[in-house]
Amino acid sequence: MSVLVGLDVGTGGARAVAVDGSGEVVAEASSEYPLHTPRPGWTEQDPADWWEGAKEVLGKVAAEAGDEVSGIGLTGQMHGSVFLDASDQVIRPAPLWNDQRTQAQCEEITHAVGGERLISIAGNPALTGFQAPKIVWLRDEEPENFERISRVLLPKDYVRLRLTGEYATDASDASGTLLLDVRARDWSAEILDALEIPHGWMPKVYEGPDNTGALRDEVAWELGLPPGIPVAAGGGDNAAAAVGTGIVGPGLVNSSVGTSGVLFAHTSEFNPDPSGRLHAFCHAVPGAYHLMGVTLSAGGSLSWWRETLGGDYDELVEAASDVPPGSEGLVFLPYLSGERTPHLDPRARGAFFGLTARHGAGHMTRAVMEGVIFSLRESLEIMRELGVPIDDVRATGGGARSTLWRQLQADIYNTPVRRTVADEGPAYGAALLAGVASGTYADVDEASSVVELREEVTEPDGDRSKTYEEQYEVYRSLYPATRQAMSRLTDLATGSTGD
Ligand code: XUL
Repeated sequence: MSVLVGLDVGTGGARAVAVDGSGEVVAEASSEYPLHTPRPGWTEQDPADWWEGAKEVLGKVAAEAGDEVSGIGLTGQMHGSVFLDASDQVIRPAPLWNDQRTQAQCEEITHAVGGERLISIAGNPALTGFQAPKIVWLRDEEPENFERISRVLLPKDYVRLRLTGEYATDASDASGTLLLDVRARDWSAEILDALEIPHGWMPKVYEGPDNTGALRDEVAWELGLPPGIPVAAGGGDNAAAAVGTGIVGPGLVNSSVGTSGVLFAHTSEFNPDPSGRLHAFCHAVPGAYHLMGVTLSAGGSLSWWRETLGGDYDELVEAASDVPPGSEGLVFLPYLSGERTPHLDPRARGAFFGLTARHGAGHMTRAVMEGVIFSLRESLEIMRELGVPIDDVRATGGGARSTLWRQLQADIYNTPVRRTVADEGPAYGAALLAGVASGTYADVDEASSVVELREEVTEPDGDRSKTYEEQYEVYRSLYPATRQAMSRLTDLATGSTGD
């Protein structure tokens, strides 16, 4: 029987799942690696840690299903920038998707390419987390490192290089660089030239299920996998997760609560949001696209709160479940790492608003969770504004496993929320894409036909939805009312003179 392996180079760690042809998970493994914050607003990881983590989890699933593995698919955190020299040595730690150091470079890029032009070619405005501003930052701030660049890769594609020896990426992940002509699904000569980034630095762009190269013999022997098996292009973590939950057609939407929160809608056409609040990216489904809104600190807000309080996660969530909807007039703004959708503001800051002496830890926990889903609701509203059909919302990510997170999504979106049987995240979708690359499935449609939905549906409750409708209005009013104060606090905290 043939087994497909999906490898996710995540932010918290690496994860591998092995799936049989019927979609059943036969082995899985996870490992953790550190995230470094050398300065406020900076986040970095060492690509060597990704490679060690990847080898560890691949080795573990190989120990259970090794001989039968017929293909590997890759996915991972998007937007990070791995700078390689001419000998493929990593030049400096990779700045990540949630790194906020590049605001000045975003302005440079907008000036060089033109704001509207960027959205019409790359599907997005210049955003601090994306890859292109990181390349420009290196030129501005570390010219000695910039001089050494021979290649620039995304996180999972660095692991691909170590697995196969190939410089390759896929169209969905490449969409997060700001250098892709998203409609054409290839690098944009216009943007690369405007930013003076050599075309030769960029890897070849493939569709998600394409074979990008064979597993190298020495790696295969080390890990206990069959040499020469295909390594599929795969997808950025959100696109791969969407394949893994069957979001491969119109009307289907994923709502993911992980470290970040993501609302993801399949679109058949390239349909960018003219104001750039939602990302318009290629899908990991050949020829398809997606719209996506990102809340930078979703589960991350709850993790921060739990670490701050020092309590047990399950106890905190249980206390939050006993608090009435709306947390008795308490609202949380989840902008702990700035915010993407809809504010596109790296200087935004988090807040509890409406505290009274009556509020305790349970209220505050609930408010944190409600604030995260209010933030995702803003993405849903923009999709509705753009006329994107929303027929079937599926919860995914760590949050899909929690009754309270699912109920909050149903009540705050005011729509039923479903869930897939296998909720294995991006790695599962990457395994399905490997199944196309290795010939187990004819195409992504056939691969995703193994995705099954659970019978249970989380229905919205009319009264709670009504309460949330009003609380959402208050939530929405808070960012515009406090934006300048947030920005000033950011300047004070970072010692900048501000604007
Ligand atoms: C998507 C994004 C995050 C990362 C984290 O644009 O920045 O979802 O991919 O994994």
